[in-house]
Amino acid sequence: MSTIYFFLSILKLVVIISFIFILPAPSAAIDTEHVGKRLNVPASYVAAPYYPTPHGGWVADWSESYRKAALLIANMTLAEKTNITCGSGYDMGRCVGNSGSALRLGLPQLCLQDSALGLRNSDHNTAFPAGITVGATWDKSLMYARGVALGAEFRGKGINVFLGPTVGPMGRKPRGGRNWEGFGADPVLQAVGGALTIQGVQGQGVIATIKHYILNEQEMYRMYSIVQPGYSSNIDDRTLHELYLWPFAEGIKAGVGSVMAAYNAVNGSACSQNSYLLNGILKDELGFQGFVMSDWLAQISGVPSTLAGLDMSMPGDGLVPLLGDSYWMYELSRAVLNGSVPVDRLNDMATRIVAAWYQMGQDKDYPPPNFSTNTQDATGPLYPGALFSPSGIVNEFVDVQDGHAIVARNISRDAITMLKNVNNTLPLSTNSSLKIFGTDAQKNPNGINSCSDQGCDQGTLGMGWGSGTARYPYLDSPMDAISSRASNVKYYNTDTLPSGLTASSSDIALVFINADSGENYITVEGNPGDRTTAGLNAWHNGDALVKDAAAIYSTVIVIVHTVGPILLEEWIDLPSVKAVLFAHLPGQEAGQSLTSVLFGDVSPSGHLPYTIPHNESEYPASVGLVYFELGQPQDTYTEGLYIDYRYFNAHSIKPRYAFGHGLSYTTFSFSNTEITAVTPLTSTPPARPAKGSTPTYSTTIPPASEAYWPAGFNRIWRYLYSWLEKSDADAAAAVASTSSYAYPAGYINIQKPGPPAGGAQGGNPTLWDIAYTISVTVTNTGNFSGRAVAQGYVQFPVGIAYDTPVIQLRDFAKTNTLARGESEVLTLNFTRKDLSVWDTVQQNWVVPSVGGNYTIWIGEASDALTLGCYTASLGCRSGLMSPV
Ligand code: NOJ
Repeated sequence: MSTIYFFLSILKLVVIISFIFILPAPSAAIDTEHVGKRLNVPASYVAAPYYPTPHGGWVADWSESYRKAALLIANMTLAEKTNITCGSGYDMGRCVGNSGSALRLGLPQLCLQDSALGLRNSDHNTAFPAGITVGATWDKSLMYARGVALGAEFRGKGINVFLGPTVGPMGRKPRGGRNWEGFGADPVLQAVGGALTIQGVQGQGVIATIKHYILNEQEMYRMYSIVQPGYSSNIDDRTLHELYLWPFAEGIKAGVGSVMAAYNAVNGSACSQNSYLLNGILKDELGFQGFVMSDWLAQISGVPSTLAGLDMSMPGDGLVPLLGDSYWMYELSRAVLNGSVPVDRLNDMATRIVAAWYQMGQDKDYPPPNFSTNTQDATGPLYPGALFSPSGIVNEFVDVQDGHAIVARNISRDAITMLKNVNNTLPLSTNSSLKIFGTDAQKNPNGINSCSDQGCDQGTLGMGWGSGTARYPYLDSPMDAISSRASNVKYYNTDTLPSGLTASSSDIALVFINADSGENYITVEGNPGDRTTAGLNAWHNGDALVKDAAAIYSTVIVIVHTVGPILLEEWIDLPSVKAVLFAHLPGQEAGQSLTSVLFGDVSPSGHLPYTIPHNESEYPASVGLVYFELGQPQDTYTEGLYIDYRYFNAHSIKPRYAFGHGLSYTTFSFSNTEITAVTPLTSTPPARPAKGSTPTYSTTIPPASEAYWPAGFNRIWRYLYSWLEKSDADAAAAVASTSSYAYPAGYINIQKPGPPAGGAQGGNPTLWDIAYTISVTVTNTGNFSGRAVAQGYVQFPVGIAYDTPVIQLRDFAKTNTLARGESEVLTLNFTRKDLSVWDTVQQNWVVPSVGGNYTIWIGEASDALTLGCYTASLGCRSGLMSPV
């Protein structure tokens, strides 16, 4: 063995050993009260085989892109095709993911980059408010505007693929670490936020990635490792369709170019190789035309993941990165040559990727990357993950911010959710005597970007931690903004109330508290992503700070920056606590967005995108975090459809603050409500359209020479290549002619017509037929200008054969700013799908009672529904008793 190979083997061993030791160890931080041990995948939860992968290209909207892609693919060699389906390795380029190229044919390396709220690890970018903040606006135009701005920034930096939006996790688990990346604990809120983000981003020519597919509801134990499989989310088919799949279906309907397969397993089978989820649901039922990428290092096999429908491996490495190993690249070339992966499958993988590139117009004038996610310096290694890398210019500091700060600020402002406001305490006068407490009111003294991927909770909390973050170009903190507006301010930059304070009756205390969470690879203050140690309480003794302030000051206003629900019970009913504002995660625009509400430039108009309980025991036990020492942690969705408000309503638990709650400085009336029937319903949707034609190619195994290393090629150690040594390629080709591969159980290679529930992107197109439209006149009846949200919840007819949550959000609309006395007509639409349930036997969306009487409730919160419209009589009534 040569010295260099010996050296590499030792290195490999060291990396493997260190990986074993950095695995999440059972930690003292685990809260055993809320973290339960689980056993095996329960018998009734099955991941059935579904083969083959449906070819892409059968949807009319994509046919031109597929036509162009097919021309390119037909001219590609085997090694070029396998190269474009895989990343070049961990840290092997400027972006967080860098696919292989086919430069001979004009296809560049694709740059894939986080995050869903702005450019991760970059410069001269906007740090937008997080998804949960966007959800709290309930404003479709702002959701879209943020997508457009994100798309412009990603394009400006030369990024081909935007790694967002996040619509999973949905927030099933209140302690889940990444709920804040998405838009709220409801499928429709997630779906609308996700789809509008996709439309905005892709309108700029950037491929969006909807993630994480699917049921990645907890951070701990999400990844497969050498010693432990990632947890299995065990779910029934109806719950999957009606809750967690819903936002993905809407994203696909919006034309999303890419889907990221999650780390975890579903019903015992890893998402990155779960043929039922990828081939069956995503590509057949939902008619997904783009490509499926793995989450980073989520691929756990070569041939099985290929056959199950994975199209791109990211970042390309095998389970343990930086060894120069891959399940694909040269291994995929070999697998095609030896006949274990059908040529047909590789052609479809490559075609899907190239078609998405054409679909966004990236073949014309698309800029190459001009930044590096690896360093803030101008120059550095071009392949930081390589053992020896050439260096060069990596950051060109292109300013992509444009006027996006305004979009960001408007979102942060219109998300602010007023939970309580006794005696019109808010808004404040700028002359008030303000005593301000809490480190959350001011920037992190160590620097706003001092913690990598925001992996700390110091100073104003503008976002959670992990890959879903951006560096702040600046942070307009609450104190910056308050001190520039108010004249009589004293700030105590501490989370402990100083002793010896005396209050005068005119003093108003503003207390800033927060609650953080993030991604599992960083542990902050004992929380490994999920809120294990902190629970649902405010961090840094926030509860004590509020209580201590309330003991001295007669007027206390609590301002909360938070990733999700927190418990308020220790202080919410104290007489001094007069007002509470949830400012969610505002990104860089934390300051002026807040002062414009505090000082009454605008009325708060945000509404809760989740329920706030009195205490954690009000949730079903099954939504606690799972924890297991050995084997696969099992996370079984026994609560079914009943998460968040659906659960509280089903069990008649009145929460502290209901989903959708949010107060205003003014009041609104809803009048002239009209319901109109549009498309008549039938029990099941009309027959789906047949699939259109898809590209056809030769299915003959190409000659081994298509995978030979080019002569004289200068290799970079650890970089992943798709070529094989001549001897290996020839040997693989020889195997193909002498033996056949044992495919997985259930494998066939005959394309199917597709299920009745499919037929277009998102599913059967008639699912989006509008069944009923409701229009309502919203009038500002108070003394302040403001914006109202009309939330539309469907109640299914009584007596149907399906157990269904009493109310479910199906559409919403927000007024413009209405002056006193001003009115606006809002329109909400209710589709066939909105009025259907997923029937597991028929495998279709079924209207459970055609002609039955649905009640569609319209109101400003899920627990304030007094206006109902009836589909049987086509009449609406006000002054009703709220159904919950
Ligand atoms: C893992 C995260 O789960 C995913 O959201 C992210 O896009 C990738 N890492 C790349 O950073």
